Amino acid sequence: MTEIAGRVAVVTGGGSGIGRGLAMELAAQGAAVGIADIIHENAMKVAAEITAAGGRAHAVQCDVIERDAVERMRDEVNQALGPVSLIFANAGATSFEKITDMTEKDVDWIIHVNMMGVTNCILAFYPAMVKVRDGHIFATASTAGLMPHWIPYHAPYSGAKMGVIGLMLNLRLEAAEYGVGATVLCPGGVIGNMKAKNMSYRPERFGGPTDEEVRVPAAFVEHNTLVFRPADEVGKLCVKAVRENRPMVITDGKMREIFVRTYQNLVHEAFDFVDEFDATLAGK
Ligand SMILES: NC(=O)c1ccc[n+]([C@@H]2O[C@H](COP(=O)([O-])OP(=O)(O)OC[C@H]3O[C@@H](n4cnc5c(N)ncnc54)[C@H](O)[C@@H]3O)[C@@H](O)[C@H]2O)c1
Repeated sequence: MTEIAGRVAVVTGGGSGIGRGLAMELAAQGAAVGIADIIHENAMKVAAEITAAGGRAHAVQCDVIERDAVERMRDEVNQALGPVSLIFANAGATSFEKITDMTEKDVDWIIHVNMMGVTNCILAFYPAMVKVRDGHIFATASTAGLMPHWIPYHAPYSGAKMGVIGLMLNLRLEAAEYGVGATVLCPGGVIGNMKAKNMSYRPERFGGPTDEEVRVPAAFVEHNTLVFRPADEVGKLCVKAVRENRPMVITDGKMREIFVRTYQNLVHEAFDFVDEFDATLAGK
């Protein structure tokens, strides 16, 4: 059991939605929390909420796509709050567009923020955990990564999030050798600010921020059976999973059937295909 009280945690994307839910729950359980976000103002608001409630927090502006920035953020939080032993690599951004309708920069942004954002946090925080044989790495993926052909017009996002799932589940194997835990979150629907604010998170080198809303395509709405949960509930669920070193967290238990059916169909189709091929070869 990983105790939370007395530890120092960092939550990326901690200024909003799921990240804020994680930060508030960690603080409620007695951790000091570094709130890292590309939007400094939002990170400061969450840090202020935590300190107003008697907790310890430190806000840092950080774009998780930039490895140097993540290293600077780590050093700043280590200095302000003490050595970080819990990293929550949660920052992300989305897209609901055909890949042919996206600019190359937009595709790069979605891959970088979701996949490299997590990778950069692991590279920055994990080695110190290995050294002291203690700590936990947590990353936010998505149901879109767990069931990547369920929702259309989501290709770079699904790809990056499936990458995060693979990265985390595999890293968990070697982390266990050092007593370090690893958990990946695959949220279904969670109440956050992505629909309205997503484009305001786009860094200058990928085209810069705009105030456009994410346009969710009709195909998604028709397929969508998601129940949108409050982020504070998700924060509680995730911190419990970290305490118990669970490999994966989902937020919607009603999706079990869809998940099983999706993978059964996919696996049967692929295995049947190779069996048919081998039968053809054998018949030659
Ligand atoms: N809400 C959902 O239904 C849902 C579903 C699946 C996955 N997710 C994932 O959950 C995570 C959190 O999303 P949310 O719903 O809370 O959204 P949100 O928009 O409320 O919060 C996202 C936060 O990430 C920050 N951020 C974005 N780019 C960043 C960057 N480059 N560097 C640092 N911070 C950055 C934003 O400023 C914001 O504070 C994301 O990884 C998202 O892909 C959310």
